[in-house]
This record gives sequence, structure tokens and C-alpha cells, in this order.
Amino acid sequence: MIHSNISVLENGHIAFSNTDVVELANKFGTPLYLLDEKRFRENCKTYRNTVEKYFGSESIPLYASKALCCKEIYRIVSQEGLGTDVVSGGELYTALSVGFPSEKIYFHGNNKTEEEIIYGLNSNIGAFVVDNFEELAFINEQAGKLNKVQNILLRLSPGIDPHTHRAVVTGNVDSKFGVAIETGQAFKFVEKALECKNVNLEGIHCHIGSQIFDKYPFTDAASIMLDFASDIKNKLGFAFRKINLGGGIGVRYVENDPQMDIDSIMGEIKNELDKLVLERDLEQPIFLFEMGRFICADAGMTLYTVGSVKEIEGYKKYVCIDGGMPDNPRYALYGSKYTAYNATHGDREFDIVASIAGRCCESGDLIGEDMNLQRFDRGDIMAVAVTGAYNYSMSSNYNRIPKPAMVSVNNGEAKLIIKRQSYEDILANEI
Ligand code: LLP
Repeated sequence: MIHSNISVLENGHIAFSNTDVVELANKFGTPLYLLDEKRFRENCKTYRNTVEKYFGSESIPLYASKALCCKEIYRIVSQEGLGTDVVSGGELYTALSVGFPSEKIYFHGNNKTEEEIIYGLNSNIGAFVVDNFEELAFINEQAGKLNKVQNILLRLSPGIDPHTHRAVVTGNVDSKFGVAIETGQAFKFVEKALECKNVNLEGIHCHIGSQIFDKYPFTDAASIMLDFASDIKNKLGFAFRKINLGGGIGVRYVENDPQMDIDSIMGEIKNELDKLVLERDLEQPIFLFEMGRFICADAGMTLYTVGSVKEIEGYKKYVCIDGGMPDNPRYALYGSKYTAYNATHGDREFDIVASIAGRCCESGDLIGEDMNLQRFDRGDIMAVAVTGAYNYSMSSNYNRIPKPAMVSVNNGEAKLIIKRQSYEDILANEI
């Protein structure tokens, strides 16, 4: 099994967090998102403890909530003592709706709307991660009107290629995110921020990309950020108190993916940073991280019911499911690979090659192509593993398909945390 929270029961059914998923499918219907609460909490703890082990209790582990957010997730993240990064008014609203401590919220985004900025200022969030000069000017002006001084970090682009899918690279010089160090604009960005009376420049931020399996992009980014900090200190006499190095640790989706060891990655980053802080004679900054996928990906699974199984003789075989790109657009967008099980007959051999097709009117609506699968018959439940990150959060109502429910499972206990959308819900805002 791709992760240890998945197993095969004696009756041949697949279990997730020791819960028979066929029973869950029968009780709650399909498609159905599952959240393994125990695993999610364990991942939060591992992340928090590792950050604390290497960077001390002052450092702040944030959860990048764009990966998976809903009220229950913010409740758990807050109980587990993490902060969070939000990228929209909607995420901020959801976090605040369950009492997430506002001072632990960092507001990201490359083009926050003016309304969102005012909402963030009024909500007393911990900090804005400011993306560009115009945004800086607007935050300063609005903070002035409210008679306050808003904490900010500046988003920089360190110019790193993290060797991951093009669509999830964010730290390259020509990125839409942040201000580039290489062109000298980041230096001016800092100068400008220091001139603003109603912002308090706490530090700098970078995020180089997502689903990264190599330690070098992280250590390279860390060293570029500290070089920049040292340059600022020498030329402007200003020391950044906080340096946020973003998220991006890769997660295992298929057998060939490595299993990343967060302890060794954080250890390597720490060594690199210690060396540079010493060499550059810098004051010890507080380091922040913001992992998303690492925390939620393997805590998720999606259940589907198999409909038609179609063989195009001499060509291809399709196993068709009652979900697809509306609940998981990642294959269509990035060609992302997944592992799928026959949850009704989890003990079958993996002896067929087939593509998993969704139900939308679109040929690209697939969960995977030419995958090595177990045999499926109409009515079988399919379990697609590692769907916790960027599935529910990227879901849509394409073809007017209602969004699935989400059920949290915890060692045999199941709890509905998001209701299935109804047709009326789809019409809710229509006049
Ligand atoms: N911080 C910032 C500023 C980010 O933009 C992201 C992800 C993260 C942290 C968290 O990265 P993670 O630890 O989850 O890799 N939809 C794509 C992934 C987009 C990532 C966007 N930013 C996917 O499904 O693979």
C-alpha cells in the first residue's frame, strides 16, 4: 500500500485509517472525500516538532491552507498549534469563522483585492506577505487611515528552478509572484517598505514551488535569501527579524515517488542557514515555513463507484467513475499520477492496464492513463489514494456536478465534515 494508513481487511475491502471504506461509500454515497484525521494530526505534529527541533520554539510553522481548507481543517490546525497562510478573503473568512487566532494568520497572494486588504487589516491578521510595490503603497495608505502599523513580509523571488512541474514553480525570476532579487528590484522594494510609516517590515518571504523531492532547491533558496539579508544589512543597516522559506516538500503518490524525510530536509536547511548566519555575521532571524501538501496529501482518499468498464479492442481500456475532474482536476492540469485500488476487492492482483475516466463531457477528464490496476466491475468502489492536497480545494461544479461530501475517519469512527452539495445548492446564487 502506498501509505501505512491504507490496508486490506479480511473481507477484501480496503480500509483507510482502519475504517472499511466500502461501508463508508454505502453510508455516505459516492464520490466521497475522506480525511484521515489521525494522520492529518500526526503530520501537523511531525512538522511542528521538526521545525521546533531545528529552528527553536520562536520559529513559526504555518499550514498553507490552499492545499485543503474547510472549517474542520482550520479547527484541527489551530488545535495542533500551527499558524496558517491564507490567499484570499474566502480562506480568511473560513479561518476566522472557527476562531482561528488572527495573529497567526499570514495573508498571501500576488494580486490581493483592495477589499481583501481592508478585510485583513480590520481582522488584525499577523502579517501580510506583500507581493509588489502597488500593494505595499495601498496597505500603507489603508493602515494609515485605520491609525495602525501593519506587520508585513516582502515576497521575493530568489530565481530558483526547483525541478518540478512548470505550473507549480513559483520562485523563478520571471514569476508572477513577488519581486526579483536578481534584477535589483527587491533591494528597492525593501527601501520603499522602510520609508512607509504605517507598515512594520518584519522580514522577507520566498516560496520556490511545490512537490519538490530534492533538498538543493531548498538549501539554495535559503542561501540566496540570507545573502540578500546580508546585503541589506551592510548597505541599509537593517536586519530582517523573520525569514519565511515557504513550503513545497514533495509527497509520495505512486510507488516510484520517494518518501521524503522532513527531518533530514529541515536538518540540511538548518546547517546551510547556520553556516551563512555565522559567515555573514547576521543576527539570528526567526524562520517560518508554510507546508501544505506535506500535511494533508496522504490524509486524503477519494471513493468513487465504478460505472461502465469499456474496452476498445486493440486500443485501450477505460474504467469509468462517478466523479472526475470536478473533484480532482490534477491529472487534467498537471498530468499528476495517482494510485487507485479496487476497494471492494482490495485483494485482487494488479493485472490490468486501464485509464480511469471521469463523467464530464471532456476527453481530458481522467484520473490517470494506462495505469496498472486491479480488475473492476460495474458497482465496485474505487479508492484513489493521496487526494488530500489540492483536490477538494480545487474542485468545481463543471457540468453542474455537485461537489462530494467529506467524511473524517479516525480509527473506525466516521464523521461528516462537509455535506454533499445538492442541486439546490448549485442554484443558490442564481436569480
Ligand atoms: N506557500 C506559498 C506561497 C504557496 O504558493 C504554496 C503553494 C505553499 C506555500 C504550499 O506548497 P506545498 O507545501 O503544498 O507544496 N495546485 C498545485 C499546487 C500549487 C501550489 C501552490 N502554492 C497541485 O495540485 O499540485
